[in-house]
Amino acid sequence: MQVDVLLGLQWGDEGKGKIVDFLADKYDLVCRFQGGPNAGHTLIINGHKTVLHTIPSGIFRHDITNVIGNGVVIDPSTLCEEIDELNDLGLNVTERLIIAKKAHLILPTHRMLDAASEKAKGLDKIGSTLRGIGPTYMDKTGRNGLRMGDILRSDFQDKYTALKKKHLRILKMYPDLDFDLEAEEQKWWGSVDILRKIQQVNGEYFINQALQQGKSVLAEGAQGSMLDIDFGTYPFVTSSNTVTSAVCSGLGVAPGRIGKVIGITKAYCTRVGSGPFPTELHDETGEKLRQAGHEFGATTGRPRRCGWIDIPQLKYSIMINGVTELTVTKADVLSTFETIKLATSYQYDGRDTMELPFDLDQAGLTPQYLSMDGWESDISGIDDYEVLPKNVKDFIEKMEQLLEVPISLISTGPEREALLSRESSMVTA
Ligand code: GDP
Ligand code: IMO
Ligand code: MG
Repeated sequence: MQVDVLLGLQWGDEGKGKIVDFLADKYDLVCRFQGGPNAGHTLIINGHKTVLHTIPSGIFRHDITNVIGNGVVIDPSTLCEEIDELNDLGLNVTERLIIAKKAHLILPTHRMLDAASEKAKGLDKIGSTLRGIGPTYMDKTGRNGLRMGDILRSDFQDKYTALKKKHLRILKMYPDLDFDLEAEEQKWWGSVDILRKIQQVNGEYFINQALQQGKSVLAEGAQGSMLDIDFGTYPFVTSSNTVTSAVCSGLGVAPGRIGKVIGITKAYCTRVGSGPFPTELHDETGEKLRQAGHEFGATTGRPRRCGWIDIPQLKYSIMINGVTELTVTKADVLSTFETIKLATSYQYDGRDTMELPFDLDQAGLTPQYLSMDGWESDISGIDDYEVLPKNVKDFIEKMEQLLEVPISLISTGPEREALLSRESSMVTA
């Protein structure tokens, strides 16, 4: 069996949670492979909204095992809050959730370091989610980190204290922070005690054995390709690889095991936090997109920056990820727009090109737009592609033609059922 992958092609918040929840039905395992509680994946089921941060979005489906893979960084405090919220909904999370022992732990002092680093950067800050992601991955690659499996060892308290002391020494370089470390630590240790009761496995064996037994696996990405530590808009990125290759290192599966790669894009584009965004709209159209799409961060509540869809950017993400099919979300948000635009190329250095430059902030980079007529009608209840207004179909087919990858799913609302599948007429190799 193979591992299918679902990931975001833009700057995150493409609607991954909703689509994973929908597709999870067809899989035996749903696995997160990178990132941590910087993610906010929204599911709306029977009118009830849940935002997942660390737990995979297959958790609402019966008979599915949800794995937090080794590539993920876990904050015990946030993970326990999520578990509590789901238990309150009547889900038996302990039965459905498995954690890889090699996943790294976010300590309260990692969050302090994140906040201190952001504060020190002033106007140049990354705009991080302040969840301690950067410092935790730094400790992982610096070979100082603590891992999930360590919580079961007798020397865990000593290891924790040593790492905390190191963090406190580093924090002396920064101005004082408003952070109640004692209270946060109390919560953290209480959560660690609870997590000791959750099933932990050697994730790489667990997943490979499942594949050998003929089980199907869906890998759920967090963030988006433009936030990838290598290929994103560095340094305004997250601290993990968010692209398909990270599935191999974040779960322990070989490259030959990768099956379908489902790339998700909104019908427009958003970004939260700092950094370049070529098609960003600073005018009332951008504000209209924000209001119509309720574009406020699921993790931090910050307003998301909004703009038109960017074809060169999407083609770049498709190339890096090896995307085999596309899902377009939030098509309904464009329903009140008279005109819809797509950036089809960039102009810089006196030429028109599809290639993303080394630095997307490059002076003079100007997206070139194609304008299409909007459909100006509500499409939210429609579940048959053929019944959609002609202008919606023209827009979808134009995107498909420009991106050269079939669009197989179109999302028309935040609820689980607001989705229509489509037989693409595109001939693929
Ligand atoms: P994720 O991080 O990729 O899982 O996405 P988020 O949950 O952070 O943000 C997506 C937001 O859009 C959430 O509020 C979803 O409920 C909502 N959403 C997802 N798909 C659609 C859609 O097709 N239409 C509308 N209107 N909202 C959607
Ligand atoms: P999901 O999975 C959108 C952004 C932050 C910031 C940068 C670095 O919900 O799509 P970090 O806390 O990772 O060090 O922040 O990355 N960011 C996200 N933006 N969606 C996310 O996740 C994000 N996770 C991180 O806003 O700009
Ligand atoms: Mg999100």
